Amino acid sequence: MSEYILEMKHITKTFPGVKALDDVSFKLRPGTVHALMGENGAGKSTLMKCLFGIYHRDGGTILFDGQEVNFKDSKEAIDAGVSMIHQELQPIRMMTIAENVFLGNYPLGRFNLVDHAKMNQDTKALLDEVGLQIDPKTLLHHLTVSQMQSVEIAKAISHKAKVVIMDEPTSSLTSSEVEKLFSIIQQLKEKNIGIIYISHKMDEILRISDDISVMRDGQYVGTWPAAEMTTGKIIQAMVGRELTSLFPEKTNKVEEEVVLRLENLTSPSPLSFKNASFDLKKGEILGIGGLVGAQRTELMEALYGMRVLKEGKIFVKGQEVKIKNPAAAIANKIALVTEDRRFNGIFGVLSVSDNASIASLHQYLGHLGLLNEKQISQVVNQSVDRLRVKTPSTKTHIESLSGGNQQKVILARWLANDPDILILDEPTRGIDVGAKYEIYQIINNLAAEGKSIIMITSEMSELLGVSDRVMVMCEGRISGFLDREEATQEAVMTLATKFMTNQQGGETDA
Ligand SMILES: Nc1ncnc2c1ncn2[C@@H]1O[C@H](COP(=O)(O)OP(=O)(O)OP(=O)(O)O)[C@@H](O)[C@H]1O
Ligand SMILES: [Mg+2]
Repeated sequence: MSEYILEMKHITKTFPGVKALDDVSFKLRPGTVHALMGENGAGKSTLMKCLFGIYHRDGGTILFDGQEVNFKDSKEAIDAGVSMIHQELQPIRMMTIAENVFLGNYPLGRFNLVDHAKMNQDTKALLDEVGLQIDPKTLLHHLTVSQMQSVEIAKAISHKAKVVIMDEPTSSLTSSEVEKLFSIIQQLKEKNIGIIYISHKMDEILRISDDISVMRDGQYVGTWPAAEMTTGKIIQAMVGRELTSLFPEKTNKVEEEVVLRLENLTSPSPLSFKNASFDLKKGEILGIGGLVGAQRTELMEALYGMRVLKEGKIFVKGQEVKIKNPAAAIANKIALVTEDRRFNGIFGVLSVSDNASIASLHQYLGHLGLLNEKQISQVVNQSVDRLRVKTPSTKTHIESLSGGNQQKVILARWLANDPDILILDEPTRGIDVGAKYEIYQIINNLAAEGKSIIMITSEMSELLGVSDRVMVMCEGRISGFLDREEATQEAVMTLATKFMTNQQGGETDA
């Protein structure tokens, strides 16, 4: 018997215009966590999809549990004992949690009918394991992104697999959900299951992995015991050079002019944001910190006209404005880059070019209202270059780009629109370290050009490294502001939990 549960050897895979995998080998020991790392577009997800039967490799061999395998589709992979948590969530939103978990695999009862009672009961047990206290009969579309991700995890562990692939499983989990996942991973290890873990979050990688493999541009770079690795060494292996600093030098200047003022913004829902007031200045980068659930996204969506207000006023450049829908926000030169690119952000079957230009099309209406294609492609090419989006062409469907590159296209869309106020919700989620630096540079340059930026981020280093001023929210209320010099991790955390009475996030009366 081999000491490995899985051996992938000399795997190659070419897509039109891209050599996604070029002679990649990867081995997994049972009962261990093997992290797979690499920049956006390095080929991590493609390698896993070749294993899981979603893509068919052009060459190479796969040994699973000592046998050579060629899974035709994911059902075969699952039946053989491989399961996968996908990077891009693919829930069926009009089905219940239980139906999603058992999709294609329904337990049958008498007369070969689907045994709903058993399905719901089993699902309940799985949900308990991942820490989701929700009725299994709830429709998926009522769940938040983080809850949907937990459902994906429940589904993956339901298959009794020998190998579990986790492709960015924590990208939208709250910190307590992450802890749940880590304890599940521990239990899987104890059952001698092998786990392949893909993430851009260094702290997670260093905490849970036994081995670390790195890929770069479709090629295998190397494998090391995690205990020998540091963030610096991993980054160096990923980007092929040393990154001296994680943040660009700040060159923007915050001016006196107030470009945006919120007064007392309050949601009709008592559980959402209330009495939110703040000013945003020209050239300023305002970071919004807080724990998941602090209502930061909800507040920004209200500002952008996606949610109704119970009360409150919005002033743009000193003029009161009514923003009842996103079109009104865009007319006021406000842009929002959403946190959840799959449901709000991207149009999967449109090309990179269409995705990047969709918000700015009105600018290119020429004579007779026809679109000026040439101008569009110029602007799109410019922003695609500026963000170094890795794509064979701007005509490629955005769905086939790597996750991080999809995020860059969304950003390109808003740069093409030339907004004065740019709201970024978790702008670097799922983005590798090198590309993060580029995005920080773009944020900085935009502010230096006199644009104002609001950035929601759950990454502490990013909040402190990029913002001129930090605003913190807790349980729907603004709990304080910190200037760049005062903003420390402790200060932010203190404000982020200011109105909490217990771990569950109960509330005190103000
Ligand atoms: N279905 C597809 N059609 C065409 N090209 C594809 C397809 N899937 C992936 N690619 C290309 O293969 C390359 C590797 O992509 P992959 O998704 O494997 O990257 P990744 O390492 O998972 O990146 P990320 O960290 O951004 O998720 C990219 O250049 C991507 O555009
Ligand atoms: Mg990927």
